[in-house]
Amino acid sequence: MDGPILELRGLSKTYKGGVRALDSVDLDIRRGEIFALLGPNGAGKTTLIGAVCGLVRPTEGTIRAFGEDVKSHWRSVRRRIGLVPQELAFDMFARVDHSVEYSRGMFGYPPNKARLEEVLRSLSLWDKREVKIRELSGGMKRRVMIAKALSHDPELLFLDEPTAGVDVELRRDMWRQIGALRDQGTTIILTTHYIEEAQEMADRVGVINKGKLLLVDDKDAIMAKLGRTEARIILGAPMSELPPALGEFPLSLEDEGRTLRYRGGDGTGKGKREIAEVLRLLVRQDIMFEEVDTRESTLEDIVVDLVDGREGGAA
Ligand SMILES: Nc1ncnc2c1ncn2[C@@H]1O[C@H](COP(=O)(O)OP(=O)(O)OP(=O)(O)O)[C@@H](O)[C@H]1O
Ligand SMILES: [Mg+2]
Repeated sequence: MDGPILELRGLSKTYKGGVRALDSVDLDIRRGEIFALLGPNGAGKTTLIGAVCGLVRPTEGTIRAFGEDVKSHWRSVRRRIGLVPQELAFDMFARVDHSVEYSRGMFGYPPNKARLEEVLRSLSLWDKREVKIRELSGGMKRRVMIAKALSHDPELLFLDEPTAGVDVELRRDMWRQIGALRDQGTTIILTTHYIEEAQEMADRVGVINKGKLLLVDDKDAIMAKLGRTEARIILGAPMSELPPALGEFPLSLEDEGRTLRYRGGDGTGKGKREIAEVLRLLVRQDIMFEEVDTRESTLEDIVVDLVDGREGGAA
């Protein structure tokens, strides 16, 4: 099947208290991609995932998964979806292996020792298979959550903050494992507050705020379109105005003429080239400078600016 694996149309959710957690969301997820949903606390990320996974009843709109309407084909759709919820939730007294097998059974699949071993090994949990979950560290518990979500080999996997509270090393490890899942053909939708995570892994990125999807695009396209370069050039002596030769560049004088600030570029390296040209022009005009700081904007800058309602730009 070639169409999107998941299609949301006009999806809205107003909770009982009146909070509009989703506001007419349209979104297509492509088969085989890693899609990162970014946005501040309360943006509606978990609500969106909950709507697809049957935990939240939408107020309006439609959801199609695997080409079928989720409402009318609920049972068959649910068996093909995996969810790692944001909140850790399992029987703390159960053993790791039993808990994972139990999840598989919940979706109506018979036990499968080979699959169990494969999943536990891929998450470095094989050695811990007989340990009670409550005896594991927080990061390990999160891996058990992932193992449970993978137990029935889902085609579409939701990871809601999969690396919250996980240390840097373990996080990198999990990125590799999530990448391996994608390589095996699993479509992955994840939410994260670590924008580095999206920058590292995602094929496409969506930014949501107050229930509205503000932007969806290829990660590289976002960086190219909204990326900015910023440089601070500390001058040897204050300048009262910009020399005419520098007039064509996006420069300003700050700090009573002691700092020359560049804000420009487009995420394609243009910024760095222009800054180099500015420095050459300064040297040619015998204008001394003491220090140059250059900084490329990150996806994080872009998301923060979008959520705050500004155009993209380095902070
Ligand atoms: N069960 C509920 N009843 C009422 N309001 C809710 C419920 N669940 C979520 N909300 C509200 O809906 C909005 C969106 O919440 P949601 O959990 O989807 O955000 P989120 O983007 O996942 O945030 P976070 O990054 O903190 O996980 C928030 O204002 C939240 O308070
Ligand atoms: Mg959430």
